[in-house]
Amino acid sequence: MLPKSNRHLQKKGKQVTAEEKSKVYNFLKTASSWSYGYPSPTFKEEPAFEDDIEIPEEHEEIKAQEQVQVQPQISQIPAEQNSAEKVPSQGATLESIAAKIALCKNCVLCKARTNTVPGEGVKNPYVMVIGEGPGEDEDKTGRPFVGKAGQLMNMAFQGLGIKRQEVYITNIVKCRPPANRVPEQDEAETCLNYLRNQVILVKPKVIVLLGSTALKNVLGKEYSITASRGKWIEQKGIMYMPTWHPAALLRDENKKIEFWKDLKVVVKFFNKSGVEDEK
Ligand code: URA
Repeated sequence: MLPKSNRHLQKKGKQVTAEEKSKVYNFLKTASSWSYGYPSPTFKEEPAFEDDIEIPEEHEEIKAQEQVQVQPQISQIPAEQNSAEKVPSQGATLESIAAKIALCKNCVLCKARTNTVPGEGVKNPYVMVIGEGPGEDEDKTGRPFVGKAGQLMNMAFQGLGIKRQEVYITNIVKCRPPANRVPEQDEAETCLNYLRNQVILVKPKVIVLLGSTALKNVLGKEYSITASRGKWIEQKGIMYMPTWHPAALLRDENKKIEFWKDLKVVVKFFNKSGVEDEK
């Protein structure tokens, strides 16, 4: 199926766009990887697909306009009272926030860290992903979600037509908690201001909250991940989708299906993917 914005294009014979080919490829890759339980050996580097049909420039403009219309009011995100820095200081960038995080000694997590893990990705993405905190692999590399849980998450996103490079990924805390324990309240609160500023600068269309720590620290202690997952929550003009943390999927196979379904709701919101619903 063509994305909504391209549905006016008349297809002749078996003509398909590069985007469609990529989606089918990634869907099959994910299905294959999920059945193997590890990255599929059959599907490795994605080939450079080409369009069979040309998308006229005027239609690209329509697509851009549609994207602008669904932009929620990220500027309304609340800045915490008592926080040292309520809004990004003038001229703040994601890089300058990362530089501050690299020097941060605001909580005990700085003591055992190898690297800080500020987050990575693009500005103005469809999706910003917020996890709990770096694990061992993330601490070693300084990059979020690169371990087993991250690989699983990447596969799910890819299968739904979203590449890792198209999202922004970060965590509640930017330093690894010892032995991967849940961050303490004071650690999370101290670190939240970096996250607030990242959200303001990244301007995602929706935010996916991975697991209970992300949900409770971003939206409030009254939320439970079991009851909230898969349901949109709108707060201050921002659309949030809570779902399982990918590490939970590694422990409980049944959660994989629910995780996949929750992400599909996100993708459907933007009509970005041609992946069909399960019957
Ligand atoms: N778990 C998280 O919550 N974040 C990461 O970056 C990696 C694992």
